[in-house]
Amino acid sequence: MQEEKMKNKRLITVVVIILVYLAGAFIYGKASGEKESTSTNQTKKTTVVGVLQYVSHPALDEIYRGIKDGLKEEGLKEGENLEIKFQNGQADQSKLATMSQQLVQSDPDVLIGIATPAAQSLANTTSSIPVVLGAVTDPVGAGLVGSLEKPGGNVTGVSDQPPVASQIKLASDLLPNAKKVGILYASSEDNSKYQVAQAEEAAKKEGLEAVKYAVPSTNEIAQTVQVMSRQVDFIYVPLDNTIANAMQTVVKEANKANIPVIPSVDTMVEQGGLATIGINQYQLGLQSGKMAAKLASGKEKPETIPVYMFDQGDTVINQSQADHLGITIPQSMKEKAKIITDESQQETSKEDDK
Ligand code: TRP
Repeated sequence: MQEEKMKNKRLITVVVIILVYLAGAFIYGKASGEKESTSTNQTKKTTVVGVLQYVSHPALDEIYRGIKDGLKEEGLKEGENLEIKFQNGQADQSKLATMSQQLVQSDPDVLIGIATPAAQSLANTTSSIPVVLGAVTDPVGAGLVGSLEKPGGNVTGVSDQPPVASQIKLASDLLPNAKKVGILYASSEDNSKYQVAQAEEAAKKEGLEAVKYAVPSTNEIAQTVQVMSRQVDFIYVPLDNTIANAMQTVVKEANKANIPVIPSVDTMVEQGGLATIGINQYQLGLQSGKMAAKLASGKEKPETIPVYMFDQGDTVINQSQADHLGITIPQSMKEKAKIITDESQQETSKEDDK
């Protein structure tokens, strides 16, 4: 009897010890489990955005500025909950490929390609990480999306398709005696092909003869502009990165022969183009940044987000160039336009220096 009791007691003690041990393990496990999940939450809180810019020219730099502000507007702040990995391909295809690899390997939440060649390079490198197009003229033609409404894959973004017909109309309003337009672009850029075709058509409608001048690289620009200046009444430039990057050369050569340059974007008017109706570059960046933030959160999927398009451009006129070329800008046109002068340019660059 005594022995029985002893046995029972021992059994109870063993059971109690096991229970205490299990309870302890359970509480400890839960606590450490919670710790783990807070630490993953913390790492997840920093959103990583990889940005690949094709080349530096004022328009693309302005787009990047907009991108950073767009991310900020959606609550992503550098140094707090956002890390931006930025690379500039300097218009070099092999650099673009290596940089795309590096960006993809850094396991970002979203990637942004600024200009067509950068976006193409990113899209060729990953089919799972969302890629945002930072102002691509022709996303379908460049093989980046299935359609503008339903991109279908891991790529969507913002298109900067400009109002080409309005731009050509503006040119012929400003230059009523012009008969022949020369279209200057780089043969390597997919984004330009599409716009060149549109410009040819628009020129025909305005009763202008259009001649295409494709340059194989930056090296041929000065000479091509010299040739054009003898053959055409004005030069039209699409959203071409190679030309935008060499705008100073274009303007210098064209000015020697008093030939106006009508570009497709405000920043190129600031660089010495005569006038345009263009989409604000900063706004393009802002939209791209906002879209990237939404995709990074994982709440939305790129395949179902339509490509964002702008339907209105701003009229921008370079008064100093008009004076230089001896062109009178009609008052009615001035009233609707943003007027740029060499002085206002200097003032803004002074402000930028501050
Ligand atoms: N749309 C161009 C592309 O698809 C990029 C671009 C944006 C651009 N803004 C520009 C090119 C201004 C020249 C000038 O590559």
